[in-house]
Amino acid sequence: MTASKTVIVLGADGYIGWPMAMHLSRLGYQTVAVDNMVRRRWDEEGGTFSLLPIASIEDRLARWHELTGKTIAFRDLDLCDGEALDELIAEWRPAAVVHFAEQRSAPFSMIDQEHAVRTQVNNIVGNLNLLFSLRKHAPDCHLIKLGSMGEYGCPNIDIEEGFITINHKGRSDRLPFPKTPHSFYHLSKVADSENIHFACRVWGLRSTDLNQGVVYGNATEDTALHPDLATRLDFDSVWGTALNRFCVQAATGNPITVYGRGGQTRGYLDVRDTMACITLALENPPTAGEYRVFNQFTEQFTLNQLADIVVAARKAHGFESEVVHLENPRVEMEEHYYNATHSSLLDLGLQPHYLANTLVDSMVSLVQQHADRVDPVLLERPSVTWKGGGNEYWKQYAGTSAQSRLREADAKMVQRALGAGAGSAAAHREESAAGAGGRS
Ligand SMILES: NC(=O)c1ccc[n+]([C@@H]2O[C@H](COP(=O)([O-])OP(=O)(O)OC[C@H]3O[C@@H](n4cnc5c(N)ncnc54)[C@H](O)[C@@H]3O)[C@@H](O)[C@H]2O)c1
Repeated sequence: MTASKTVIVLGADGYIGWPMAMHLSRLGYQTVAVDNMVRRRWDEEGGTFSLLPIASIEDRLARWHELTGKTIAFRDLDLCDGEALDELIAEWRPAAVVHFAEQRSAPFSMIDQEHAVRTQVNNIVGNLNLLFSLRKHAPDCHLIKLGSMGEYGCPNIDIEEGFITINHKGRSDRLPFPKTPHSFYHLSKVADSENIHFACRVWGLRSTDLNQGVVYGNATEDTALHPDLATRLDFDSVWGTALNRFCVQAATGNPITVYGRGGQTRGYLDVRDTMACITLALENPPTAGEYRVFNQFTEQFTLNQLADIVVAARKAHGFESEVVHLENPRVEMEEHYYNATHSSLLDLGLQPHYLANTLVDSMVSLVQQHADRVDPVLLERPSVTWKGGGNEYWKQYAGTSAQSRLREADAKMVQRALGAGAGSAAAHREESAAGAGGRS
């Protein structure tokens, strides 16, 4: 029984952290949610926003309690404040900490020097503070840290789960897998991994480093309970993943924009599988001093394959979508070998949800309910390039809070709902779908 165990979720207001906090609370863990709300401020800074309206943390927690009778404790805390973090760990002495609380956008880290520094300080210092707090107050705690498959880059050999045995000049050793990361953000994750590995070797901490692929989907058992429990859906070029952007483009009748030739291959997983993977890691902890790495994804796709999946899903409903190739804002290989091992979580019992038309259909339908909020410039135009940083689109939106723009879009939706009466949502969905098909 898990009821007596305390788990702290760091970054619990985020896309994955919020559903994770609810999931653990549902399972009976004493769940403590921590966030400093910086992600919402970064949205204000860049003029970006979640397509799906998200409730304040206070409303989320209250709604969760009202619907389930369960309480998630909350602390507004910055991981870079070492003293506050110390107090938190000393107060709860958790059995496990799930650490999501980082700046997680590669383009954001490439805007300019200030954003690269901010990313690395936020992520590396926050993680380092956590290691010291755990050593002091909860040395047996299981640290479950979210890393990224992007730490490895795209080597021309199979990617192993964290370690590789190397034979060199007649000697052999099992060493950390070589890393060639994609961005300053991914470099911060590599530094985190090194620091955690070191803390396990030297202080005897225990940790699971989850090199996660790109996560998609918005529906978990818990987010589906009420709109106040929804998690964010990013669609812009800084925060939105390729699959999110493709679904929003297909749903709104815009061309699907693939960066470069489209052979870029990455690992992907459904957000429901993220919940399952972290729960499996939590329930099967490493031993004291052990640092283990799991590659957390279920399927790998090229960008072209993702675009084809979205096109096919729309076609099944009679809608044509166009795919166009944009000049690649990133510096990355556009055709390459990619084969990453990901058997550890399957061995622990993971039963994956594979990417299917039904998932694309549900994302498209979600987008169509909020189509008035889509900003075509944020959706279509890459605003950061790897060589030049933030470009004219970044500058156009920087500092322009999305709130007034969103108020207009939301007012339109309400008007339509009032005008169309009870069947309005379905009517709007059909109308958007018809519009999307007509334009593309
Ligand atoms: N979303 C993905 O596809 C994906 C893929 C691979 C890895 N990851 C990793 O998973 C984790 C969660 O990703 P996400 O998509 O939910 O990100 P997110 O940006 O939606 O959530 C991160 C949360 O952490 C908080 N945070 C950031 N810095 C903080 C600090 N110093 N102190 C306190 N809170 C802080 C933010 O306010 C935000 O709510 C990240 O570490 C990310 O790197 C995500």
